[in-house]
Amino acid sequence: MEQPAWNAHLYDTKHHYVSEYGDSLLELLAPQPGERILDLGCGTGHLAYKIAQRGARVVGLDNSPDMIRLAQENYPALEFVQGEGAAFHFDEPFDAIFSNAALHWMPQADEVVRCMARALKPGGRLVAEFGSRGNVAAIIGGMQKALQAYGYYFLEQQTPWYFPTIGEYAALLERYGFRVVYATDFDRPTPLEGEDGLRNWIVMFGGAFFRLIAADQTEQIIADIETRLRPTLYRDGRWLADYRRLRLAAVRG
Ligand code: BEZ
Repeated sequence: MEQPAWNAHLYDTKHHYVSEYGDSLLELLAPQPGERILDLGCGTGHLAYKIAQRGARVVGLDNSPDMIRLAQENYPALEFVQGEGAAFHFDEPFDAIFSNAALHWMPQADEVVRCMARALKPGGRLVAEFGSRGNVAAIIGGMQKALQAYGYYFLEQQTPWYFPTIGEYAALLERYGFRVVYATDFDRPTPLEGEDGLRNWIVMFGGAFFRLIAADQTEQIIADIETRLRPTLYRDGRWLADYRRLRLAAVRG
């Protein structure tokens, strides 16, 4: 399945928790003044800005032209580049690569890790967090059942996301010369904003499943997904996405 055409404004207004959760990942990165750091999958630039505030020279890279445009508007003094995670190259190497909630959008993981290894200085570090195996399993299950109830196929392999286990990703990093120095896999139920939180999430991130379905039927199917998932994902007056995270730090040999 193809990647979504991002609605950068909706992302920035309704899904700002994505960069807020990145704050603790920044602590793991511990950017130092003068370091050259790549923010891979920088989105609208908020975490790149926080890295720059620590005195590092940051470059934000994102595949979405809309995200890059909004990042440049948000932080005109910073450098943002549009490019693919699986095919990027910079002439000047980086001291560190940081990536929050982005690697799960890059299923060509082998190429991504190859690019990251090539872009880092020897001894350079990678600090990343993204969805791990089982991430959003309840949401995927709800979408699958509702789409099937309306006569549409939904094969799990069609999802555009890559959610590896620690073992899979660590092995991949080692293949490209990284030494994994920290890795953890944890559940992080994530509050979605407002009564329409699940609906907004589906529109923002799962829109591709509905691309060939008429708008009025899409409405019905999303309402059906809400009904199916309310008993498990709606608690104490708010929706919670069943996020599961892989957080890791690795050093390039
Ligand atoms: C995530 O952050 O885990 C995620 C976001 C969008 C789609 C799938 C997963």
